[in-house]
Amino acid sequence: MSAIESVMQEHRVFPPPESFAKSAAISGMDAYRALCEEAERDYEGFWARHAREQLVWAKPFTKVLNESNAPFYKWFEDGQLNASYNCLERNLENGNADKVAIVFEADDGTVTRVTYRELHARVCQLANGLKALGIGKGDRVVIYMPMSIEGVCAMQACARIGATHSVVFGGFSAKSLQERLVDVGAVALLTADEQMRGGKALPLKAIADEALALGGCEAVKHVVVYRRTGGKVNWVEGRDRWLDEVCAGQPETCEAEPVDAEHPLFVLYTSGSTGKPKGVQHSTGGYLLWALMTMKWTFDIKPDDLYWCTADIGWVTGHTYIAYGPLAAGATQLMFEGIPTYPNAGRFWDMIARHKVSVFYTAPTAIRSLIKAAEADQAVHPKQYDLSSLRLLGTVGEPINPEAWMWYHENIGRGRCPIVDTFWQTETGGHMITPLPGATPLVPGSCTLPLPGIMAAVVDETGQDVPNGSGGILVVKRPWPAMIRTIWGDPERFRKSYFPAELGGKLYLAGDGAVRDKETGYFTIMGRIDDVLNVSGHRMGTMEIESALVANPIVAEAAVVGRPDDTTGEAICAFVVLKRARPNDEEAVQIANELRNWVAKEIGPIAKPKDIRFGDNLPKTRSGKIMRRLLRSLAKNEEITQDTSTLENPAILEQLRQAK
Ligand code: WT7
Repeated sequence: MSAIESVMQEHRVFPPPESFAKSAAISGMDAYRALCEEAERDYEGFWARHAREQLVWAKPFTKVLNESNAPFYKWFEDGQLNASYNCLERNLENGNADKVAIVFEADDGTVTRVTYRELHARVCQLANGLKALGIGKGDRVVIYMPMSIEGVCAMQACARIGATHSVVFGGFSAKSLQERLVDVGAVALLTADEQMRGGKALPLKAIADEALALGGCEAVKHVVVYRRTGGKVNWVEGRDRWLDEVCAGQPETCEAEPVDAEHPLFVLYTSGSTGKPKGVQHSTGGYLLWALMTMKWTFDIKPDDLYWCTADIGWVTGHTYIAYGPLAAGATQLMFEGIPTYPNAGRFWDMIARHKVSVFYTAPTAIRSLIKAAEADQAVHPKQYDLSSLRLLGTVGEPINPEAWMWYHENIGRGRCPIVDTFWQTETGGHMITPLPGATPLVPGSCTLPLPGIMAAVVDETGQDVPNGSGGILVVKRPWPAMIRTIWGDPERFRKSYFPAELGGKLYLAGDGAVRDKETGYFTIMGRIDDVLNVSGHRMGTMEIESALVANPIVAEAAVVGRPDDTTGEAICAFVVLKRARPNDEEAVQIANELRNWVAKEIGPIAKPKDIRFGDNLPKTRSGKIMRRLLRSLAKNEEITQDTSTLENPAILEQLRQAK
């Protein structure tokens, strides 16, 4: 850990514009500090106050935090509520019924709008339709759908009837989908005929069929298909139903089923350091509370805002900041089916201008690729678009380098808009460390300070605080309402992964390295300290990709590491030993392509290695352990300065360096 040192020498500071601060939910640093102090003084009282003020409870809670079975914390455990009620009925009752909830723009530019009243009716019809199929409280439903109003309806309909949803990103392969269906024990699968991205149709139903045919999914009794394109699909009578037919004739009201605050609202799979993805289980009460609070605090959401989060509903960002947070806040949000580069790389800027987006939330990787595109083609440069509606910008998913931050600030925010660099994780449920746009002075590349009530810290390998200015391990010292509750079906893995005994068993281990600024205490995230890569903001375990590679019959051994990449943040670099002789240069190109396609089939296109290098062996210690730090140096094409004396086969380094 001593190797982690502050690499940032950033001295530019951007205080919040006065006009912004004046009307912000948290206005000025004194207001921020007052909330932090309230949480310090009376932690449970702080959370209880917000939970009572922000959520509508079917049955009020009397207990706030139960730590008796730590780290399996419980929040508001004797309270009952329904997440969908809090997102929909609440808005019918408070004057938002005819307010637009979602402005949906399809890949081809077609725009559809639904009001809260209409959304409520559609969610209720689907909820009734699912109930008619026999799906109910406690059942698990997998959602493998494109970005669509129907996708949000599917999540809300599950929440309404107390079914736990598990959304699988539409870019995952049949095998990944099948693994998740089996692990979560799904009784139904909601999908679409096809999804449209960048003018191309992708056959979701066909992939779903393939997943189910892989076996182990006998519990899946129903496949409900949203007719998106009308493309041809195979049909299994008795199992498959069109979503519109499931909804047809169903009443437009459906009582929201009250569930315990701890009832699992959803399970979302994410990558860890071992091969098998983890089913991150979230609660209903604590999760929804934080989704709503952070909409107000971080995004300063106001009734007139047009809010746009570009994430996919397949990731946690699309859960908290599309499917739940904005609806609970009664906001109007834009939702986009397509990709930022179709029909050209000005699509985002064009959409902001046409819809008059005021709050825009995207990933650094998208910003970096659009910088390149704008430099290459002035026609899609943001200066060609009227971006005057914007008042707040945000980023998420990976560290944003100060250059990209400055470009975003100047070219998109035109120097007027604060940028909230939000650090959080699938496991945290919502924002953790982030600027408050009306309070926090911004420093490019830093996610600044923890939100009130979030006890983040930087510690050493024994769990002791390190002084500001020294790098260390990012932890959270107290449980918070939106935190992961367990890993679905694997509580021991939950305990070991997030509350390791080495740190004393009480600190939540985020898995990132971090450093706090000597003067300001601002956090800068240094990247993962485990075997997890972050490629274009997508999280991937190196072990997961290695398992996929070695599953190929021609592969004997594989080791995967990350290396820095200008656009995607990190790039996947695989070192592969084949069962046959090492290929010559020409063969290497062809076999590497075969392996890339193989990985796309095994996991999904997002996991394709960028570099594949073939060797006779991998660098190993005498005890047979692969020396990954050497591979990381090789991947970066950097001089190896580390100690190689424990290496059994030093000559292999030269071979791998030259390998293509
Ligand atoms: C990992 C979590 C949170 C939704 C999207 C990703 C990295 C996330 C930031 C940020 C630096 C960040 C961390 C974290 N990360 N946001 N603002 N600055 N790093 O969720 O797939 O669970 O990934 O993303 O490494 O641990 P995820």
